[in-house]
Amino acid sequence: MSTLAADFAHLPAVWKRRHLLDLESLSADEITCILDAAAAFKAATNDCRTKLSVLSGKTLANLFFENSTRTRNSFSLAAKRLGADTVEFSSSGSSVAKGETFIDTAKNIEAMNVDAVVIRHRTPGTPHLLAKNLRCTVISASDGPHEHPTQGLLDIMTIRERRPNLAGLTVALVGDIAHSRTARSNIWGLTKLGAKVILCGPATLVSRRWEEFGIEVAYNLDDILPRCDVLNLLRIQFERQHTRPFPSVREYALLYAMNRERMARAKDNILIMAPGPINRGVEITPDVADGPHSVILEQVTNGIAVRMAVLWLTLNAND
Ligand code: CP
Repeated sequence: MSTLAADFAHLPAVWKRRHLLDLESLSADEITCILDAAAAFKAATNDCRTKLSVLSGKTLANLFFENSTRTRNSFSLAAKRLGADTVEFSSSGSSVAKGETFIDTAKNIEAMNVDAVVIRHRTPGTPHLLAKNLRCTVISASDGPHEHPTQGLLDIMTIRERRPNLAGLTVALVGDIAHSRTARSNIWGLTKLGAKVILCGPATLVSRRWEEFGIEVAYNLDDILPRCDVLNLLRIQFERQHTRPFPSVREYALLYAMNRERMARAKDNILIMAPGPINRGVEITPDVADGPHSVILEQVTNGIAVRMAVLWLTLNAND
């Protein structure tokens, strides 16, 4: 722990927040602080395998009102790797079904002497609402289509490990931008750190209004592909759509799926990313998802490191 403490000696000067609710409100220095802490935790825990005791005596509650594989389990593992206890809440099977309000449920969980609540909910702004109503730390595990801050951070950490200088990199987010919380967190995080972001997908799923924020919008993947250093391939979120945004999945795949033919026209060292879950054959073909340019599973491992960093920083902050 003494080495770790030395690694982080400069961090509390930058990090003052008790909550992590989004990336839009963070400064470049704050984002870099989390990324540096995540890298230090990854190194100190042998790639997130071994345990530390820096959060011994603390308790984390996972409050998930939507399904999750990666986010929920990696928050849980991150807490355990740091010596904290965890409480696992799922809305199905809970007293929400008996009419208890969302805030009452959260306050009852907090009353079990919980120090941090991780919240995933379909309604945008839910983490901000909890932060106003609870005394403990609140960390967003995504709120509907709004933001998924730790996903944005783990994506940027994965890019930074391979390409340390983000300024000057071109990162394309491809697919269902309209409904993607991952897209929003990547947009804020990457642009604050100096990367160029291109949003690419069908016109029904990519608004030109992003150009007002200095973001490039493109509707033809083949046109932008030779310029891209990183492609982050986003899932089409049919469950959030009221009407079909394109005639068929087959047509979408023809225009936007990353496949062997497109890989041949991409940069030699292009990074292929996806936040998961992936739909093989829709946004990415199996040979590309499992190929040498793919860092999809490294993203998942880095999710534990980022979540360790976020827990450690927020639970040690004095705002
Ligand atoms: N990327 C992501 O949020 O995955 P889960 O839905 O499995 O948590």
